[in-house]
Amino acid sequence: MISLDIARSDIENALRRLAARQPQLLRRTPLMKLPGRQFGLDCAEVWLKLEQLQLGGSFKARGMLSRMLANEIPASGVIIASGGNAGIAAAAAAQALAVPCEVFVPLLASQAKRDRLRQLGASVVVTGAAYSEALEACLLRQRASGALLLHAYDQVEVVAGAATLAAEIEAAAGLPDSVLVSVGGGGLIGGVAAWFENRARVVALEPTLAPTLFQARQAGQPVDVSVSGIAADSLGAKRIGEIAWNVSQRYVKDALLLSDEVIRDAQLWLWNELKLAVEPAAALGLAALQSGAYRPQAQERVCLILCGANLDPTSLAGYGHPGPQGCHPGPQGCHPGLQGCHPGPDPGSSATPRLDCGSSPQ
Ligand SMILES: Cc1ncc(COP(=O)(O)O)c(C=O)c1O
Repeated sequence: MISLDIARSDIENALRRLAARQPQLLRRTPLMKLPGRQFGLDCAEVWLKLEQLQLGGSFKARGMLSRMLANEIPASGVIIASGGNAGIAAAAAAQALAVPCEVFVPLLASQAKRDRLRQLGASVVVTGAAYSEALEACLLRQRASGALLLHAYDQVEVVAGAATLAAEIEAAAGLPDSVLVSVGGGGLIGGVAAWFENRARVVALEPTLAPTLFQARQAGQPVDVSVSGIAADSLGAKRIGEIAWNVSQRYVKDALLLSDEVIRDAQLWLWNELKLAVEPAAALGLAALQSGAYRPQAQERVCLILCGANLDPTSLAGYGHPGPQGCHPGPQGCHPGLQGCHPGPDPGSSATPRLDCGSSPQ
């Protein structure tokens, strides 16, 4: 069997395909640069790639559109199994291209995501406890309908689509020193690592309750893991994708686990301090920094990818400001540079956030 992998030319092709459809079907999302001290960190800069502003509310738009534009779409349209965001991205792209879209979601997919899918005109089938069971049902149906199968994270065009996000970061601001990436099935990290190769340190982040890549690294090969927790509707793939596995072997140095508590704290910090509404899956980068699980060097420019915002907005309300008492330090405790785990923005700082949209990577 041929092992799935991704080449530079796959990414170049995706960049061309997607550039032709911007800005109608895809946004070039902004990059916000802040000094590390605004996060209570010693590092030089934290870059936030605001991909939660992407059409459809997550980076998944890139991969779905890339796959759809690279293939002929039959009259039966497209079909996908998804915990939510890939389905939403597929449904949005299908609506824009005026083709039918069927989405299989597991029971753990949030009501907010199911509602959004229906609003986008997709036919939604809710089946199976987790993503893997929804995928089985989806594959069965695809054989009968002949629709174009979109995989949420393990097709070359999908991973190459995700890589365009990394190309945008570099076009806007040059190379960061490190990029912290949330991992579910691995389409995002596969794309990001394939783009940066060894030119930036790519760090994989997973919830302790969904340790797909972490366990694969321990076992020396992809293995099934059980998944649950706060981000399971986005990061709840049971097994790391083959493309991500192959790419990560070459380019991903660290794979870190984060508790649901620190993920939640980071999600609330982003809302309380920066007014950025993101879903838990998008808060792992900040959680790694603020918990001390990842400790950047003094001169480091760390890039976080805020990869999605498909959340119930009321989930951000009513928690108040999580002060230092609310801090849940990671295994090594707080970062030494922290003055408290949830410092407010530095009022004396001249560092107004800088937004770099950059030019097309093409
Ligand atoms: C918001 C968000 N972040 C991260 C991920 C993880 O992406 P991947 O499955 O490509 O690793 C997902 C997956 O659905 C997601 O929706």
